[in-house]
Amino acid sequence: MSHDPKSTNRPGTAFGVDIGGSGIKGAPVSLDDGEFSADRVRIPTPQPSTPDAVAKTVAEVVDSFDLDKDVPIGVTFPAVILHGVAQSAANVDKSWIGTNVEKAVQQATGRKVLAVNDADAAGYAEVLYGAARGVDGVVLVVTLGTGIGSALIVDGHLVPNTELGHLEIDGHDAESRAAESARDRDDLSWEAWAERLQRYFTVVENLFWPDLIVVGGGVSKHHEKFLPLLDLRTKIVPAELRNAAGIIGAAALAADFRG
Ligand code: BGC
Repeated sequence: MSHDPKSTNRPGTAFGVDIGGSGIKGAPVSLDDGEFSADRVRIPTPQPSTPDAVAKTVAEVVDSFDLDKDVPIGVTFPAVILHGVAQSAANVDKSWIGTNVEKAVQQATGRKVLAVNDADAAGYAEVLYGAARGVDGVVLVVTLGTGIGSALIVDGHLVPNTELGHLEIDGHDAESRAAESARDRDDLSWEAWAERLQRYFTVVENLFWPDLIVVGGGVSKHHEKFLPLLDLRTKIVPAELRNAAGIIGAAALAADFRG
């Protein structure tokens, strides 16, 4: 389906599902304003989080709502997704590599779905309805969580699967040093973590020269503790949609591109 990515006129409803390490969350999203049109449902992610078990849980989430048969459904997944197939599994069960996420969820739900990378979904949502709304040019959305996710959006067009959390910086996989999980693991003060973020974002801005960087992930609610410590050329702001961004972006992407 072709769609003007900068148009804010997205009528109707789509459904988004966010598959995370601890919970699988879904809600119907009203596309004109990006708001949930019913309360979100969350079911803990099954352990081990194998494709079959996760697909069944996604179906439970979807079936908690009375949805039209042909409502667009988007599903986020924390991996590179090419044409529905997971190509990587940095922080999820390795059995996902090579799994067709779309097919697995379609079989479990009996519905057609679009599978997308989690950070791509969050980034698309921030551009349509959040912190980067109306921003022209190159927007980079970086999510700081267990890993580092990235979304590159150029004049409203998403360049999918950028995987900037895996840049090699100073001999390390960047997310192993600068993700929120590294702050936790190494028991870092905000200042010490901000030094790692400074290094990370300096490399990123020198490679991509974005007009705006948006920082998402759960830790972005504490943005005042670390964003002011960063000294970058690029304007950097916290995400606005917080943990709703994945659901909202998956729904919007499904409406714009499914099928
Ligand atoms: C994965 C990405 C994902 C990010 C955030 C990284 O480890 O490689 O695909 O977007 O974590 O979940």
